[in-house]
Amino acid sequence: MPADDQRSRLEDFLGDDTVGSISQEVLKKSRPLVVGPRQALQETWIPPRLVHRDREIRQVVNILAPAYRGNAPSNVLVYGKTGTGKTAVVTRVLDDLKRKVPEDANLRPVIVNCRDADTDYSVMRELVNATQDPSMKPVGEKSGTHATLLRLRHALQQNDGLAIVVLDEVDRLVKRSGDNALYSLMELNTHLKNGHVSIIGISNDLQFIEDLESRVQSRLNEQSVVFHPYTQEQLRDILRDRAKAVLVPGALEDGVIEHCAAAAARDHGDARRAIALFRTAVQMAEKEGARQVTDDHVTKAIAELELNVIGEGVRTLPVQQKVLLWALLAEYRTKKKPLSSGAVYDVFARVCQNLGIPTASTRTVSNYLSELEVLGIIRADLVYRGRASGRTREVTPTVPVGPTLKLVKDSEELLSDLKDL
Ligand SMILES: Nc1ncnc2c1ncn2[C@@H]1O[C@H](COP(=O)(O)OP(=O)(O)OP(=O)(O)O)[C@@H](O)[C@H]1O
Ligand SMILES: [Mg+2]
Repeated sequence: MPADDQRSRLEDFLGDDTVGSISQEVLKKSRPLVVGPRQALQETWIPPRLVHRDREIRQVVNILAPAYRGNAPSNVLVYGKTGTGKTAVVTRVLDDLKRKVPEDANLRPVIVNCRDADTDYSVMRELVNATQDPSMKPVGEKSGTHATLLRLRHALQQNDGLAIVVLDEVDRLVKRSGDNALYSLMELNTHLKNGHVSIIGISNDLQFIEDLESRVQSRLNEQSVVFHPYTQEQLRDILRDRAKAVLVPGALEDGVIEHCAAAAARDHGDARRAIALFRTAVQMAEKEGARQVTDDHVTKAIAELELNVIGEGVRTLPVQQKVLLWALLAEYRTKKKPLSSGAVYDVFARVCQNLGIPTASTRTVSNYLSELEVLGIIRADLVYRGRASGRTREVTPTVPVGPTLKLVKDSEELLSDLKDL
């Protein structure tokens, strides 16, 4: 009898398939939480459905209505706080415009992210490459800004092109390189017999407007669309769509999405933050091999993201200020009560001596403390301590002490050998 037949007869006889049933049990336990496209958990992903932004979409489409008919629209400034859907909405409207405008209208919609292209030259180069006929040689690394601008003019002139230029995060360009590029692009229209350039500027920081020459300012601001922060309910709906796109049914404990949405709503209604929080919670659950994302994962994700933000602040501090922060956190951990500014100074001086570095004046320490307060790492309350002492500042950390101590220590080699106080 062939070996296979013999085995199957034996299995029938013994009535069990040990490996099969164990593997079924293991696989059921380790069933993946994420089954859809993982990119839907990223902040850069723009879903096909944008919820709670009908009003803003309508406004942008209204302003671009002439472009849908092949004519030049006015310039627009789109602004609102970070994570309010500005890039998502404008990108999707441009996609729609591209689909609906006939080929021969010579429409050239182009999105330039000024975080990457923050010099006049790099902006112009991207515009030429997107505007000229694809058969033409792309602009190389070495061409100058002016020559590139002339090529753009030529390209538009030749095919009577309508360039819809989105300058996303335009504040960065202006901060880095001033308003020359904006000015040149706007001026281009006066030199063109055929063709036109319309600009959509997007920003989450209106301060840059002050730095624009008044003519540039008023032309960029011909029309404007404001994006308001999302409410908790709106953030919940944004997250629900993502969860549906990527997670297995039943992967979330009740209230997980609501918890993420509530935390992000407290934090300026930022969809990017809500998504980052949700992704971190899902990843934590996956790492633990959990069958569900729980409320506990969200709480841990909030703490981790908070620590990331603190970490960014801490890493940029000068060495002496890191030493001060380490000293006051270590002292606070021992004393477990707010520290007077005098006590902070004393412990700082002691640690400096240990490390063999010079201390700073009380005035400098006081300035350092004010900066740490601005970063949201400590609170320094003015309190009255009776006639003899008068008013003094009392310092309390507003961050988790243990993890932040570790963060400071890891960020500075000089501190690596320090023992707790
Ligand atoms: N209405 C929405 N529906 C679904 N997803 C959204 C919506 N609004 C924003 N998002 C998502 O949230 C994230 C952040 O949005 P977006 O990048 O558009 O913010 P922004 O306003 O451009 O912020 P910033 O000023 O920081 O550039 C993106 O992943 C985006 O897809
Ligand atoms: Mg954006």
